[in-house]
Amino acid sequence: MTKHYPLSMALHARAQKTLVGGVNSPVRSFRRVGGQPLMAVRGEGPYLWDADGNRYIDTVMSYGPHLFGHAHPKVCEAVTKAMRNSSCLGMSSEAEIEWAELLLKRLPKAEKVRAMSTGTEACATAIRLARGYTKRDKILKFSGHYHGHVDSLMVAAGSGLATLADASRPVPDSAGIPKALTDLAVVSEFNNLTLLEEVFQRHGNEFAAAILEPVMGNMGVIPPDPVFLRELRELTRTYGAVLIFDEVMTGLRVGRNSAQGLFGVEPDLTCLGKIIGGGLPLSALAGRAEIMDHLAPLGPVYQAGTLSGNPVSIAAGIAMMKLIDSENPYERLETFGAKLQGWISDEAARCRLPVRVERVASMISVFFRQDKLRNDRDALATDGNLFNQYFWNMLEEGFMLPPSPYEACFLATSHLELGDDVWAAGLRRVFERIRT
Ligand SMILES: Cc1ncc(COP(=O)(O)O)c(C=O)c1O
Repeated sequence: MTKHYPLSMALHARAQKTLVGGVNSPVRSFRRVGGQPLMAVRGEGPYLWDADGNRYIDTVMSYGPHLFGHAHPKVCEAVTKAMRNSSCLGMSSEAEIEWAELLLKRLPKAEKVRAMSTGTEACATAIRLARGYTKRDKILKFSGHYHGHVDSLMVAAGSGLATLADASRPVPDSAGIPKALTDLAVVSEFNNLTLLEEVFQRHGNEFAAAILEPVMGNMGVIPPDPVFLRELRELTRTYGAVLIFDEVMTGLRVGRNSAQGLFGVEPDLTCLGKIIGGGLPLSALAGRAEIMDHLAPLGPVYQAGTLSGNPVSIAAGIAMMKLIDSENPYERLETFGAKLQGWISDEAARCRLPVRVERVASMISVFFRQDKLRNDRDALATDGNLFNQYFWNMLEEGFMLPPSPYEACFLATSHLELGDDVWAAGLRRVFERIRT
């Protein structure tokens, strides 16, 4: 290894004295890949710089928000301008209306939206709203899907079939969550139609909602079987449960109309975050007015926030959506994503490494196993040691990857400026090193 990280190491040592584990979000600790976490200094376009001055091609892109790369001038300009009019107003403003109009144009079946600050908050509100609307308590979720650290949804499933056998007694994923809450969750398996139908036969009339990531992104990228999504839509409709798409990751990323547009399945409620705030704290819950109007102040389901619809975040969100309209990034990202998928698969095959690349639009994951992945069990059955080698070798080669085999890489339009050979040659050297 030729890269050195003395300043990152010193900063992390200092951070550990005041920040829990030296981080403000667990994945940043690099524990999964077994090494010292790097400390970031700045990002610009496709690049990220660490504290030691090493420059990386960043494929983390802050876990999704930067569709055009870091620090896009238009987003920076909008944020600076908004900030001069105060970072927080405490009253509604015209910019929030413009942001809502721009957002709802992209979600054809959604009529109303509520702005919040984090994806977790949007998912927690979606669950409370579905419960308040249906007057039912049970929630259907899918193993391996992450909806933020919402108490009701922090449920480990084990295998789907095992879960069905004891569906009313799932185990909380974290200490501090009352089991009485997670007992209200039923956990099924993504892309498993047979299990889905059985679960609805047993519990369908009790479900307030079914919530899922329409493209699984939090075990690495696992595409949906479109038939599975359509069947879930049908079953939720038949049994009177609210269908919630958690599009915090996929929203405005996998296409202009998000995953619901890409796969042609319309949910009742959509959770959004990341891109809609251009990298500032901004999330949203959007959906049919009939359901959304159950939120306070119109309805009995309470939800509020000092920072909700924050003017600086809203300005970044508007700038992002205007950029999307003027740049139309999706076709270019699809073409580049397909090329990158091909390079990774080809170079791995040349080196006889068991690699499967899964991708939906500009979300991409490299799994160390040969076969197609359909669910979290498949993701857990990949080779973690090979991934760790891949991660550290890519870092050495100047590519920043998420420090976990269970996170997606995100492509941005700024990646397209780098030239094909930067990627293909870098990948070739990395796989050759792993092979030996
Ligand atoms: C699909 C999904 N839902 C919800 C969340 C939670 O969002 P946040 O981290 O903003 O609370 C995430 C975060 O990565 C996510 O990927």
